Amino acid sequence: MLEQVEKIAKEIENTEVKLKEELEAFRLKFVSNKGVIGELFGKMKEIEPDQRKEFGQQINALKNAAQAKFKELQDTFENQAMQNIKHDDLTLPSIPNELGTIHPLTKVREDIIRIFERIGFNLSEGPEIEDDWHNFSALNFPPNHPAREMQDTFFVEKDPDIALRTHTSSVQVRVMENQEPPIRTLSPGRVYRNETISARAHCMFHQIEGLYINENVSFKDMKDTLYYFAKEFFGADTKIRLRPSYFPFTEPSAEIDISCSVCHGKGCNICKYSGWVEIGGCGMVDPNVLKASGIDPEKYTGFAFGMGVERMALLKYGINDLRLFTENDVRFLRQFSSI
Ligand code: PHE
Repeated sequence: MLEQVEKIAKEIENTEVKLKEELEAFRLKFVSNKGVIGELFGKMKEIEPDQRKEFGQQINALKNAAQAKFKELQDTFENQAMQNIKHDDLTLPSIPNELGTIHPLTKVREDIIRIFERIGFNLSEGPEIEDDWHNFSALNFPPNHPAREMQDTFFVEKDPDIALRTHTSSVQVRVMENQEPPIRTLSPGRVYRNETISARAHCMFHQIEGLYINENVSFKDMKDTLYYFAKEFFGADTKIRLRPSYFPFTEPSAEIDISCSVCHGKGCNICKYSGWVEIGGCGMVDPNVLKASGIDPEKYTGFAFGMGVERMALLKYGINDLRLFTENDVRFLRQFSSI
């Protein structure tokens, strides 16, 4: 009898299953009451009474071992089955592969560039760390003129002055120094000003400036160009108006306003209930600027304009805090996936 118990114990220990049928066969043979262990329980009567207790303990242990082994086989069998499914079952849903989205500032910059490209503007780029000449002097900022402070410059070095560019007009100087008119160029890029970060201001932001120089360029050409842009970017019903202003590098100079793109002129908190919002500055290039870059102001005239990319995005999408652009909150960024 004891031999039989040992034999069954060994058999249980050595069993391996590969097929579902083998697992079921194990269950019937060792776990079921009608199996070999159940049979042993039935033989209890044949055992000498003084040995019954010991025998009972042995077959109980055998029964527990059989159940534990069955559980173990069942688990490994299920794991294997899962692995097979992962590799083979083409009907299972795929693991989602999330796509990134275009940053709203990239999107707005590209949209603006496309609109000007259609009327013949090309792109030019320049360094973010600029010398005094390209950021100020060539743009007709006299030495020690308060207009230099107007731009809240971050200086990197003093004498000779090197600074983080405060506008991308610096790129336009570089273009004028190196190219003959006609010039029709757009300079997008990052600019820096020493401003306290708030919902409306940042010390780092993006600009797109435009420059057109040719014979007989007029103020009307500038106004037509800006009107075309405003309608393309903000919608066909958009109006523009120019308000007299001052920039050292343009004369005359103006601020560009558009009819509020959020309330369409009715009045809202974005336009402070005036119906108009400012989108940038513009003006006819000052003859001194042309001269400084080696262009004959007797022969050529031109216009320039500049706008903030963040501001255009705020106005187009009704965003009320420009810090959102640099916080990388995916809940904000994901909203721009389909536009
Ligand atoms: N460079 C100006 C600024 O950053 C914007 C501007 C560009 C104004 C061109 C007029 C003409 O404030």
